[in-house]
Amino acid sequence: MTERIIIDTDPGIDDSMAILLALASPEVSLEGLTVVHGNCTAAQGTRNALAVLELAGAGNIPVAKGCDLPLVQPSLLAPETHGDTGLGYARLPEAAQPPLRQHAVDFLIERLLAEPGEYTLVAVGPLTNLAMAIRREPKIIPAIKRVISMGGAIRHQGNTTPLAEFNVYVDPHAAHIVYHSGVPFTLVPLDVTYHCILTRADVGRLLKVPSPVPRFVHDTTRFYMDFHDANQKIDGCVINDALALALVFAPQLCDFEEHYVDVDIQGGVSMGKTFADFYRMTGKPANMKVALGVRARDFLDLFVERIENLSRAVPG
Ligand code: RIB
Ligand code: CA
Repeated sequence: MTERIIIDTDPGIDDSMAILLALASPEVSLEGLTVVHGNCTAAQGTRNALAVLELAGAGNIPVAKGCDLPLVQPSLLAPETHGDTGLGYARLPEAAQPPLRQHAVDFLIERLLAEPGEYTLVAVGPLTNLAMAIRREPKIIPAIKRVISMGGAIRHQGNTTPLAEFNVYVDPHAAHIVYHSGVPFTLVPLDVTYHCILTRADVGRLLKVPSPVPRFVHDTTRFYMDFHDANQKIDGCVINDALALALVFAPQLCDFEEHYVDVDIQGGVSMGKTFADFYRMTGKPANMKVALGVRARDFLDLFVERIENLSRAVPG
């Protein structure tokens, strides 16, 4: 059965890998992108989303621009990680298709209420759009089939502060709203994504296919690899968001546990820190599934094979 999805995204280098993987996967029907601030501004992210879709011949998929700022925190973008345009060294032509005039929050509400139980939301940026949609129209909560969200660090160290992961740290209040909303929720934290390192050899294999898709993957991930090498001594780049997307149709790639998870919004050194109540000390019921183990090479092989197939379908 085809999984109908909407990706909420801050594209973003690894976001664009997730978008391409969705387009390359017959198990998935990508029916919209909602864009949120994060790796770059929501306006830039919207341009990037439209351009990546058009690159892959999917310019018909609707894109709605969403929130420009976190709910409470000041804006935090990531040009040092994703480049000034959000797509590293890649330079894509401006898309012909314009974004929807509708705000992403209204798009989410409209689509979720129109077809309750149909959509899986893959949230791979700060959760501002989803939190705003939940507050604006709580009726969407029972209408959401499930949320698969890349974010958080449970046992793993943070990547934005020593404790907190970027998507949650940028808007911890939004994460708090979504985590406690009651939506069926799967968290894909750094604990598993940091094992998913795309290497130069993987990209070299893709470049053997004559297509603008692998050339884009090369140009965009090269910036990401330079960042990971200089700052975290990683040989390659962590394609966090693509793992979250893969779990829509290949959950066997990860091991999951159900836990009560919360996020620190008190401020101070642990702001945005996500934690799981492994020993059930709070007495609170589990509010999500958490991916804590991953078969990383199986995921990366799947990713490369599917992007190869997509590239063959987009010759040039
Ligand atoms: O911490 C990694 C996450 O933050 C990824 O989604 C990346 O794209 C950024 O949004
Ligand atoms: Ca992202």
